Amino acid sequence: MVEITTPARGILGLSAEQVRQVLSAAGRAPSVHNTQPWRFRLTESAIELHADSRRRLAVADSDGVELRMSCGAALFNLRLALAVAGVRPIVQRLPDPRQPTLLASVRAGSAKPPTPEEAALVSAIPRRRTNRRPFADERVSPAHRHELRGAAHREGAVLDIVADPGRLAKLAELSTRAHRRQLADPRFMAELGKWSGGTGPRVDGVPARAGGPAPGPRDPWVLRDFTGDRRPEPAGHAGFECDPLIAALTVYTAGPLGDLKAGEALQRVLLTATVHGLAVSPVSHLVEIPEIRESLRQVVGGRRPPHAVLRFGYGWPVVGSPRRPVEDLLLPEAGPAADPSWHRDDPGDPHDRSRLW
Ligand SMILES: Cc1cc2nc3c(=O)[nH]c(=O)nc-3n(C[C@H](O)[C@H](O)[C@H](O)COP(=O)(O)O)c2cc1C
Repeated sequence: MVEITTPARGILGLSAEQVRQVLSAAGRAPSVHNTQPWRFRLTESAIELHADSRRRLAVADSDGVELRMSCGAALFNLRLALAVAGVRPIVQRLPDPRQPTLLASVRAGSAKPPTPEEAALVSAIPRRRTNRRPFADERVSPAHRHELRGAAHREGAVLDIVADPGRLAKLAELSTRAHRRQLADPRFMAELGKWSGGTGPRVDGVPARAGGPAPGPRDPWVLRDFTGDRRPEPAGHAGFECDPLIAALTVYTAGPLGDLKAGEALQRVLLTATVHGLAVSPVSHLVEIPEIRESLRQVVGGRRPPHAVLRFGYGWPVVGSPRRPVEDLLLPEAGPAADPSWHRDDPGDPHDRSRLW
């Protein structure tokens, strides 16, 4: 554990307490299986965001795409929290090719008061939650669709709302197929079990209480079971909405930079949804299996495969998932930057402190 002490004071012109607040906001970001795969290093002039590759999902995310997206979501929160603290963030993404786990370095630009939009988005950070429960049978309004698309656009991404019933049916079929493939993979199921369904005091992973009811046969969007013991509902009785809003998020950039930017766009979309009272859950099995992701690209019709598929609607409040304390997220000021476990299949046990960088 590294404490935020006097040396941190003055970083980007912020007090130690403000540094803690911006890091806490970053740590509230969504992450795949609530792995929270990020770490921060405070230098004299920057806050560095590093990927914590021991927290990569070796089976579901073997190439680290979702890990970098999760870190991108944390980066978006960090940008926002700095803006609201009066600091215009200057972000350098992937600043050093020799350090592939150094994802971003954030410095201070000129002092600038936050915009009303930034203030609204930052206030949504603690309220945003992944909602895996049924939503109301109410269509998402055109104005809200417009806001969601605009949020993606502001981050250089496209949010393609799949409204055509034929394309939606194809996506539903792909979703069911992808889910079945993952269910049949014992390594995937073991990994899911390791990160979800807990009832104890863990500070990461998806707790059982954050899971939703089991879907019926005609509910193809909320298939992943985080509860550990989800009992099948009688056919069609889980109460999932008949007409969910399903949308695919795509960025124009390839590779790790694209993954990071997709995470930033994802978080802007999720916070915008929260500001407008919309509930969201990701449907990631559609992007985790390469052939399915390619079929998804063909259905959506873009040049690049989507990074995320999201289900939106009007929901009811749900409980949140835990987060690690800020002190656990800090890297020492100086130390080895490269992470030898990055290319290994087994990411190791993230709770084993002897393996910290
Ligand atoms: C890249 C990414 C992929 C995700 N995929 C799924 C998913 O397929 N199903 C799901 O229910 N939640 C998914 N989530 C949501 C996470 O499980 C959630 O963010 C995490 O458990 C923390 O909970 P919170 O979002 O309520 O704060 C995903 C999140 C991210 C960032």
